Amino acid sequence: MSQARWGNSMREVKFVDLGKQYLAIRDEILAKFDEVSRTGSYVLGPEVSAFEEKFARYCGVEHAIGVGNGSDALFLSLLALGVGSTDEVITVPNSFVATAWVIARTGARPVFCDVGDDMNMDPVKLKDAITDKTKAILPVHLTGRVADMEAILDIAGQAGVAVVEDAAQAVGARYKGKMAGSFGKCAGFSLHPLKNLHVHGDGGVITTGDAKLAETLLQHRNHGLKNRDECAFWGINSRLDAVHAGIANVKLDYLDGWNVRFRGLAARYSRGLADVVAVPTEEDHEEPVYHRYMIRHSQRDELQTFLAGNGIETKVNYSVPLHLQPAASDLGYSKGDFPVAEEQAGTILSLPLYAELEDDAIDYVVEKVREYCEHG
Ligand SMILES: Cc1ncc(COP(=O)(O)O)c(C=O)c1O
Repeated sequence: MSQARWGNSMREVKFVDLGKQYLAIRDEILAKFDEVSRTGSYVLGPEVSAFEEKFARYCGVEHAIGVGNGSDALFLSLLALGVGSTDEVITVPNSFVATAWVIARTGARPVFCDVGDDMNMDPVKLKDAITDKTKAILPVHLTGRVADMEAILDIAGQAGVAVVEDAAQAVGARYKGKMAGSFGKCAGFSLHPLKNLHVHGDGGVITTGDAKLAETLLQHRNHGLKNRDECAFWGINSRLDAVHAGIANVKLDYLDGWNVRFRGLAARYSRGLADVVAVPTEEDHEEPVYHRYMIRHSQRDELQTFLAGNGIETKVNYSVPLHLQPAASDLGYSKGDFPVAEEQAGTILSLPLYAELEDDAIDYVVEKVREYCEHG
């Protein structure tokens, strides 16, 4: 049975509803837009510096560098670490495509390593993937759950290679008491509208504890300019706009509260679903922020169709693993190379989740998932 049920209790549950968050803090956002607009300082400037200081403090690191988007945050991090055409960078196959292209675009070879049941980099597989060409490791904190950084940093340290965190989905997440973005040599965050902390367009930020690297990154994002007239190297233009920095400054004050709500709603889902589908788990030392709440079910596509028929919007993040993308065909991978990631790609389903979602909407989704599982 994969037919929709169109009973009286039908309601619409959107996957995300960005307008709701905006309306809740509209006055502050509009006031900030007005304030920044009056300064006439629209690219970089004091609002961006204020956000960088505030974000660095939030993550417990010394430096933050605002950039144009999360992809550039990762791309520039790799470039600044000297990653180039003779190098390999190890990452996971179950991420957004940006995680792979940022490596390939430096000229380096993306090397994939399988994930564990937590959907994050498996440190045992990581060990096997390291070669004498490995220049960096790029673990992804998928769904807002920090990868096993203790083990990953240990392996990276023994191999003498840098770790760059893909923290795009994990702003505010904690692991053993430390914040996402404070583990690696540097980390890249996305401020894209679908992320827990987002601006009203594209935006990104890099965190690092290394003052010299921060200095280089400031030049990388701004054409390679050392000052108004001197170009140290050919860089790119990837700067955080002042208006977006202003919006991020407003929203950062709300982030912990929103993340508490994400965690509460995720727990509500898990309580309702743990006996019928595979739900995300948490270790005591972890505090994920549930950028995505992903269940797993062997009849994922049918379940998704059933939920859509009942007004519930869901997504698959991501259905085609990176090593099986057409863009990766020159890397020589084939189906079966990463069985855990491949199995997950066929069974994962992201349910609606955002801080403004009402409890009874979660209960409705739970009811419909259960209905499919028990009678489907
Ligand atoms: C894991 C991951 N890495 C990188 C990115 C790229 O971020 P952006 O879209 O801001 O360029 C994203 C965002 O979709 C992501 O989810």
